[in-house]
Amino acid sequence: MLFTTELQDVLFFREHESHVQFKQALDAKYGHTEAYSAAHTAYLLEQIGSKEDFLARIGDYEKNGGVDVMEFVPLRREDVRRFLDFGTAEHGADFCERWEKVADGWAVHLRDYGKAVNYADGLAILELGSGAGVGTWSVASQLRPGSVFVSTDFDPICIRNADAIARHLGLQDRMAGLLANFWRLPFADEALDMVCTHYALDEAREVPSILTEVSRVLRPGGRFILTARINPWDRQHKLMEPFGIAPEECDALLKRVRLQCGPEELVEWAAQAGLSLLDRTDYTPETGHARTILVFEKKI
Ligand SMILES: C[S@@+](CC[C@H](N)C(=O)[O-])C[C@H]1O[C@@H](n2cnc3c(N)ncnc32)[C@H](O)[C@@H]1O
Repeated sequence: MLFTTELQDVLFFREHESHVQFKQALDAKYGHTEAYSAAHTAYLLEQIGSKEDFLARIGDYEKNGGVDVMEFVPLRREDVRRFLDFGTAEHGADFCERWEKVADGWAVHLRDYGKAVNYADGLAILELGSGAGVGTWSVASQLRPGSVFVSTDFDPICIRNADAIARHLGLQDRMAGLLANFWRLPFADEALDMVCTHYALDEAREVPSILTEVSRVLRPGGRFILTARINPWDRQHKLMEPFGIAPEECDALLKRVRLQCGPEELVEWAAQAGLSLLDRTDYTPETGHARTILVFEKKI
């Protein structure tokens, strides 16, 4: 993966170019490994001088927003070959095998996600956030007759993961990755039966705007299905603690600037966008985070 959109990034990069360069340098050094995340966090910790600095950055984000940064991740010349290699059937086989194992392991919700999305034949389905393709695999491997499936991301490498899965599963005529930004989906009003997302809203910003966009592209009666963490704020505690920001203060700050959202916020914002909750299934495994699958319907 070339790029991830950790929410903290908006606090440390004021403009797109330096952010992209930082991510690409980390990626060249560590690839998609655990060391990447550790180096990422270490860098961010180095950049923050104090709690005051931290709070000032949050205040800056609150005042100025960040909608214009991180639009698309441009490919460098040296990435072009890698971009192509990511879309191969071989790469897809590797991914499908890995995500199947994940579904048999920690991801107790994963097959249910794909099943909930494929609730009928002949659906036009859009997934937000191809990422590493875990959710994409679940939807694709259960795709029903006559359904078509597009998986979108603003990272070109990630959308190639979707292409690779399509090739491996022999679904190229019904499935593809599409480079797009969640804030401006390239679909006409009411063009789709289903929008789904597997953990991508956890890392997205301006989620209320995304939900409005989801509602716009869905036909009346169409569905929006998402998997999310029940307590997403926990993830940020480790970063904030060194600055004397206690977990409760951290949660309050992030909620204030809407830099992280849990099921309650999602249900409230979705209702404002015309999406009503049909169903909710919670998973609280013994190991790993608690998670939920929410099913919404666009009002008729
Ligand atoms: C955590 S990953 C999603 C995980 C993925 N669904 C999976 O199951 O492997 C989040 C993805 O959302 C993408 N993303 C975040 N904000 C976005 C936006 N506004 N528009 C398009 N893609 C976005 C990121 O590039 C990243 O690949």
